[in-house]
Amino acid sequence: MFGRVKPLDAILATAEKKSLHRSLGPVQLTLLGVGAIIGTGIFVLTAAAAQKAGPGMMWSFVIAGVVCAVAALCYSELASMVPVSGSAYTYSYAVVGELLAWMVGWALILEYAVAASAVSVGWSGYFMGLLKSLTGFQLPELLSAGPSWSLTGVDFSHGIINVPAIFVALAVTALLVIGTKESATFNAILVAIKVAALTMFIALTLPVLKVEHFEPFTPNGWFGPAGSSGMGVFGAAASIFFAYVGFDAVSTAAEETKNPQRNVPIGLIGSLAICTVFYLLVAGGAIGAVGAQPTAAGIQPGSPEFAAQCAALAKQGATPLVCSNEALAQVLRSINYTRAGDLIGLAANLALPSVILMMLYGQTRIFFVMARDGLLPEKLATVHPKWKTPHIVTMITGVFVAIAAALLPVGQLADISNSGTLFAFLMVSVAVLILRVRDPKRVRPFRTPLVWVVAPFAIIGCVVLFFNLPVEAMLVLPVWGGIGLVVYFAYGYRKSHVGRGIVETHEEDFDAPPQPLPPH
Ligand code: ALA
Repeated sequence: MFGRVKPLDAILATAEKKSLHRSLGPVQLTLLGVGAIIGTGIFVLTAAAAQKAGPGMMWSFVIAGVVCAVAALCYSELASMVPVSGSAYTYSYAVVGELLAWMVGWALILEYAVAASAVSVGWSGYFMGLLKSLTGFQLPELLSAGPSWSLTGVDFSHGIINVPAIFVALAVTALLVIGTKESATFNAILVAIKVAALTMFIALTLPVLKVEHFEPFTPNGWFGPAGSSGMGVFGAAASIFFAYVGFDAVSTAAEETKNPQRNVPIGLIGSLAICTVFYLLVAGGAIGAVGAQPTAAGIQPGSPEFAAQCAALAKQGATPLVCSNEALAQVLRSINYTRAGDLIGLAANLALPSVILMMLYGQTRIFFVMARDGLLPEKLATVHPKWKTPHIVTMITGVFVAIAAALLPVGQLADISNSGTLFAFLMVSVAVLILRVRDPKRVRPFRTPLVWVVAPFAIIGCVVLFFNLPVEAMLVLPVWGGIGLVVYFAYGYRKSHVGRGIVETHEEDFDAPPQPLPPH
């Protein structure tokens, strides 16, 4: 199983054949990255980060950004060497073999599908906030939020089902089924909207910044109070890591990129750098304008205790930053920029569906490549005759995404997504090192600088962030991984094309029949 390595040359032959379809340049790629990156993380999870770390969340943004940057440098080397679909899954297949590649692909389901759920819930919060501000209409709380979860139980008293989140998840799924692809122009417009909204936020909050709002800077310390999990500056970094997820959408687009060897790294690092600057200014502006306003120290956002505290505060007419479902809009409203708050809400409502779309698209693409390799039923990769989309896998994914969005709070979804992402990034960083040793002569259009420093740093960074996730999210990865192993041995192990000696290259994503392995 470890020996079942997909030959790099076969993978590269796939890329060769696609060279006619390459259309994306460095600017479009950077915009694609910024489009996939900026989303629920900054618009919504700022509240959870403030609860976990207080003003110290500014450090959290830096820490998460640095871990992403070093992981992105490793990603870039593999993305430029292996510029094909399937991102971390494909890289792992070529380097560490089928079993681990399967596990990475399986973890990527957490990354993409659960992230799509998280962003759907984020959208719901802003949608309800905007609706209330503009029309006064409020859906009952029980229908606009999922229950709160902890290891000890589920609490339905402040939410049962998140109806708007289901709506947006299914609507985006429908768009994908009929073959909607975001055009580069449309993406550029949405990026402009997001950037304009964040710029407005920064411009309105920084002038009213109060230095005393930054005191105490790290109320929960670096690792949270004793006995807590996922709190403090590192706990917030582990959650806010979500705000940077999506940059690998750039490497997934490598197959459609002109001169991927040069442009993919530019797109990855460029989009990450732009987002980090924005995030720091937004976090500083939010804290500076209203303070972090955490509820009782050490309480995990999304937990039943937290929901009860926020409900009690709401009864008194107070919505502190940490309790808000529409953090940035809430900050502006509470410094009396009501209309500007609505504008932020509008921007989030317009822009977040495109993040959902990209995550769902990424997910179906990965399922698709896995099915093409025989590790999942090939029926999943069936293409609709008219719409030319892998409609079956898209619909199945969409339904699961909607269910998760209906039933879980945004912070917990983001944490679960992070656990899968961190695993995938870790594997990519390991793969870069293995390939340097095993295949040192192969052409590397982009070489990770100081790879023996950067890759181990990325590996350690992923491990540290993982162990600072809340314990519930940490547990999801081994449980999910266990299910993945069962599925692999029950299905993929026998059906794998590589295992059966079939190596294929693909002219198109959807249709090339497998070719038998040439005799040697
Ligand atoms: N980074 C993306 C977001 O924040 C997933 O929504």
